[in-house]
Amino acid sequence: MIDVHTHILPGIDDGAADWEYSIKLARAAAAEGITGIVATPHHYDGKYSNDVETVKALTEELNGKLTELDIPVRILPGQEIRAHNDFLTNWQSGKLLPMGLSSYVLIEMPSSQIPRSMEQIVYELRLLGIRTVIAHPERNAEVVQEPNRLAELVELGAYAQVTTHSLLGGFGRGIEKAAWTLCRRGLIHIVSSDAHHLEWRGFRMKEAYERVEQELGPAWRRYFERNAQAIWDARSLTDQPTILQATTKTAGWNKIKSLFGK
Ligand SMILES: [Fe+2]
Repeated sequence: MIDVHTHILPGIDDGAADWEYSIKLARAAAAEGITGIVATPHHYDGKYSNDVETVKALTEELNGKLTELDIPVRILPGQEIRAHNDFLTNWQSGKLLPMGLSSYVLIEMPSSQIPRSMEQIVYELRLLGIRTVIAHPERNAEVVQEPNRLAELVELGAYAQVTTHSLLGGFGRGIEKAAWTLCRRGLIHIVSSDAHHLEWRGFRMKEAYERVEQELGPAWRRYFERNAQAIWDARSLTDQPTILQATTKTAGWNKIKSLFGK
């Protein structure tokens, strides 16, 4: 299994506090059958700033320790970048990291709303050949209120990542419900742990995939697993199985596109 959103690097955000804890997280991941982890420390969120060089150096150091300790998990560097006005300038000047070696970038929105800059970021990154992965939209109040707002960003080329804990009820019933609603509308493309701490925000990847299989069927489980692997391998995400419940807006837009033969 591959997990593309984690806070496993030590002492640089609200995830692993030190090397000992990073190793502890890696051991827990290995025990669950996770073999590849993208480290995505918070960046540009007003509290944490983790530049490219720091993230790459810590990733390399962690991989060295995992090899020494014979823990069968590999780490690739990334960032969970808060949407901000200078995003495109910062991207173009090499100040931001994609997820691993891929051309996908993990972007976090504030929990209260969708920032005004989001549409422009998604659209312009796409013109540059870079695709946005929106981190845990099920925890964004505006998306929960109106899933069509996420559908609009997906239409523009964004993908979305749901968190295992949301699917499993770890953030409460409201977020759990929102997470499954977004899945059923075909607005979720990747499942990841957003692991911070083993005590209450560990991986739970296996458990979440099992729930996906129960709730949505085996084709959706395979789809989410394939997409996580695709990011790890720096390939394109794959086609979705049949959408279980299309949003009105998406259905309408698809109809318009088919009328014009696009
Ligand atoms: Fe995160």
